[in-house]
Amino acid sequence: MNQRKVIGIVDFGGQYAHLIASRIRRLGAYSEILSNEEPADSYAKLSGLVLSGGPESVYEPGSPSISEKIFDLGIPILGICYGHQLMMKLLGGEVRKAGTAEYGQASLDLFSRNGSELLQGYSGGEVVWMSHGDEVVRLPEGFQATASSSDCKYAVVENVSAHRFGIQFHPEVTHTQKGNELLRNFIRICGAENTWDLTQYLALKLEELKDTIPKDKKVFLLVSGGVDSTVSYLLLTKALGRDRVKGVLIDTGFMRKDEVLHLRENLTVQGIHLHVHDSSELFYSRLKGKKDPEEKRKIVGNLFLEAQEDCARELGLNSEEWILGQGTIYPDTIESGGTKHSHTIKTHHNRVEAIQKLMEEGKVVEPIKDLYKDEVRELGTVLGLPKEWTLRHPFPGPGLVVRMISQKREIIREAETELDEILADFSGVAGSILPVASVGVKGDRRSYAYCAVLSGEKEWEDWNRVSTAITNRSSHINRVTLFVGPENVSVKDASFLFQPLDLDRKDSDLLREADAVVESVLRSAGIYGEIWQMPVVLLPVGKAAEERSIVLRPVHSQEAMTASFFPLDRNVLRELESKLLGIPKIRYVFFDLTNKPPGTIEWE
Ligand code: XMP
Repeated sequence: MNQRKVIGIVDFGGQYAHLIASRIRRLGAYSEILSNEEPADSYAKLSGLVLSGGPESVYEPGSPSISEKIFDLGIPILGICYGHQLMMKLLGGEVRKAGTAEYGQASLDLFSRNGSELLQGYSGGEVVWMSHGDEVVRLPEGFQATASSSDCKYAVVENVSAHRFGIQFHPEVTHTQKGNELLRNFIRICGAENTWDLTQYLALKLEELKDTIPKDKKVFLLVSGGVDSTVSYLLLTKALGRDRVKGVLIDTGFMRKDEVLHLRENLTVQGIHLHVHDSSELFYSRLKGKKDPEEKRKIVGNLFLEAQEDCARELGLNSEEWILGQGTIYPDTIESGGTKHSHTIKTHHNRVEAIQKLMEEGKVVEPIKDLYKDEVRELGTVLGLPKEWTLRHPFPGPGLVVRMISQKREIIREAETELDEILADFSGVAGSILPVASVGVKGDRRSYAYCAVLSGEKEWEDWNRVSTAITNRSSHINRVTLFVGPENVSVKDASFLFQPLDLDRKDSDLLREADAVVESVLRSAGIYGEIWQMPVVLLPVGKAAEERSIVLRPVHSQEAMTASFFPLDRNVLRELESKLLGIPKIRYVFFDLTNKPPGTIEWE
């Protein structure tokens, strides 16, 4: 789009590039994630550049770098962590492995209270969050240190006349005090204060959609019931008019309970009428017997296309005239674009091969592809959607397919022994392994490994420590759950037997019911809004034939990039347990104690 001012965030493979970008937008300047390998003139258009963090060491051969021409562009540059060290090295300074690595909190000592442009508003003693094993030991010419911490001499360095700044800590995480002030100071230095908000975005976006979608084309958009596709639909209708946009809800058979009904109600208020196409039988038949997570995802992505073609035929639409609309949002666009340093963890349903091909042919439009989730929600409100709708928990495009686990994993002795060895360090904890695997992310790579189940009496903080110890130390386990019920059974007496499960109507109805029970309990307890997302997962585990189990996965998250399990009120947990165990065929209830990383939010 035509924003005049853009602050670029160069991604060096760290986890926080998106957080920096979304923080900067919240502070009123538009930002975009860029690769470190862009041609130098694509950085020249920017109002400022942030070099972000990354997992490598700048002195290792082959570690990611960036063209030194960025220093000739005359734009302000802020290096954060790896980005700071890289800038120091490229400009002639020196970086080494630190004598003392620093992870976690540190306190800032300011050298100069008035001279620092970047630290305006700081008074010294601010707590900042560090995570580094390397440090800058010599500054390049022109730089001076403006703050240090006890283990880091060059915590903040500045070359004010050249508008170059380096900081060793992470201003984008909430554990850093005044992190927003620092970023706001940088935005001001870039001259980009108050240059971005959603109302402005809306006006520009509507213009852009009108200009770029050829006048003889219409858009066919799949609406799933989630906020993203609903907002995309409203945006397209506003830009192109109702006659040029066809919203179709494909009933996949893997949606939430009463979704079709609720969505219709919400859109009717807006005067929009959706076409509903029931493809559930097609989905059930193609997914029958499928178990592998990535295969399931690819089948679903392709089925959406097929169902959309069926539907277009049924409606008598001319395929030359229609292009495909999708509600893909910014993190998904970037992740699936696969920057050189990232690893495919999951294939997003909007990025299967057939869709990539349509995109290359210019036959796909994604109206909110440059927005973050919280921005999509806000835009939904601007477009007139009720808050209860825009503030709903995110729901993945493939729906319950990624929450129904059908793959068996035979338990191996080594995994059990390993778990027992780790648990020997924690008194009062018993543990077992479930005969299934789930997807996770360890060291920025995909993992597919066992899930442990624990029992004992502990506070959530202690469970967090146990869970982290297991996933850090085990080579076989990437997910840890707490055994919630039945209350009178212990983990060691329970029979976690594999009971085959199919991606069919019967099992998806069972999960739909459990999911609806969970949502209604959370809403009546008044805590739905505190939880970022809460997948309810159906496991092929029970004592007797055809029994299943449920996993509760409430999380806190920032943009779904990282997540921590949500410490649910114990009374609410008890209520959930008793209601879920009241559903016929549900044998056990578990609570997911895994953060992301090492677990992903969805189990797959
Ligand atoms: P993970 O499981 O990767 O999920 O931690 C991160 C967030 O993305 C959602 N998700 C998806 N959303 N299509 C979507 O529209 C997908 O294919 C997809 N996969 C995961 C997930 O629910 C969570 O909010």
